[in-house]
Amino acid sequence: MALAYSKENALNAICPYFTMFPLEFPLQVIKKHMKDRPVVLDPFCGRGTTLFAARNLGLESWGIDTSPVAVAIARAKLASCDLNEPLHLAERLICESDDAPIPSTEFFKAAYHRDTLRDLCALRHGLLNIETETNASAVLRAAILGCLHGPLPKNIENVGYFSNQMPRTYASKPDYAVRFWKERSLKAPRIDVLQVLRRKIGRLVGLDQASSCSISQVLHGDAQSAEVFRSLRTSPSIVITSPPYYGMKTYVQDQWLRNWFLGGPDSTDYSNGVQLDHGGQDAFSVSLGKVWRNIAISSDSSESLHMYVRFGIIPSASVDAKKIFKKSLEESGIDWRLVSTRAAKSAHDGKRQAVQMKTNSAAAIEFDFHVERI
Ligand SMILES: C[S@@+](CC[C@H](N)C(=O)[O-])C[C@H]1O[C@@H](n2cnc3c(N)ncnc32)[C@H](O)[C@@H]1O
Repeated sequence: MALAYSKENALNAICPYFTMFPLEFPLQVIKKHMKDRPVVLDPFCGRGTTLFAARNLGLESWGIDTSPVAVAIARAKLASCDLNEPLHLAERLICESDDAPIPSTEFFKAAYHRDTLRDLCALRHGLLNIETETNASAVLRAAILGCLHGPLPKNIENVGYFSNQMPRTYASKPDYAVRFWKERSLKAPRIDVLQVLRRKIGRLVGLDQASSCSISQVLHGDAQSAEVFRSLRTSPSIVITSPPYYGMKTYVQDQWLRNWFLGGPDSTDYSNGVQLDHGGQDAFSVSLGKVWRNIAISSDSSESLHMYVRFGIIPSASVDAKKIFKKSLEESGIDWRLVSTRAAKSAHDGKRQAVQMKTNSAAAIEFDFHVERI
């Protein structure tokens, strides 16, 4: 059975994210290096799979991502608290926030029952204005993001999501969703928000076990900029990461509804925000090279530094992923040795990005690179 489905890893599954890699990948890598007690870094951490793997093995880790949604989910992977704390916080925020703004667009009217939306907006307002961020608030936020949208259940008793019929991994665009619900006469059910959260958080086995590091070790920032690396207080010795695949730049738009919950606009924002430069292969390699350089500079040069990178291209971009990756290493201005290049495995490895991007030729376009600083 893939690790993603086992009960002990429910915290890792607290919220889906479009292009996550399977837990097996970082676990296998870290286990090879365990005797050195490495500090692990993922500069494109997404939902924090690498950080969760490091936590499970008792190691310190750091994560960086430009997407507020990714950062919110990844922080929960490092959190440790009693299972009741996030629930008590949710109860308090729902009681206290009676002046929370409520969006009035067609989408929101049809996406949520009026009472469900009122509770959700109270939680949103309360979490946005929280005085001190705690482990419990990080877990509550990620749990809400995980329940914000998804399929309607056959039996309402088993409901796991707050919304009308929606995909769970990404949010449908507002106009499309409204048309879809109208054509099928789908109405958003009235959901007991606290009940759904109680079930979701109650399953987070291991949340009360001590964590190897603080939630503040997930940094919101652009990995191309040296600035964000200045906040690393310990020197990374292993990097396990999966940069955006060449041509894939809609991370925030695909998660627009979760981004709204985190304070973003109540409709899709089509500007791409901070991304790697996808305007051509060379520009992309230069962009990625800046990240490799920042990593090398932030790590102790007298220690070894290994990077394990899962990288590919989206099916429509007919370019060579290996060539782009090698060029990015050259562009970094750091001396690296390419230790191995392998096609990303499919057996028991869960869903790879290329699978999620609906291609059959995944094996040809996704690779695992291992490089070491010379
Ligand atoms: C392939 S996903 C990583 C998924 C991750 N391995 C997981 O399991 O969830 C790539 C991530 O890179 C982030 N990203 C894109 N450009 C970035 C940048 N310039 N700096 C930091 N993160 C960036 C995206 O927001 C996205 O979350």
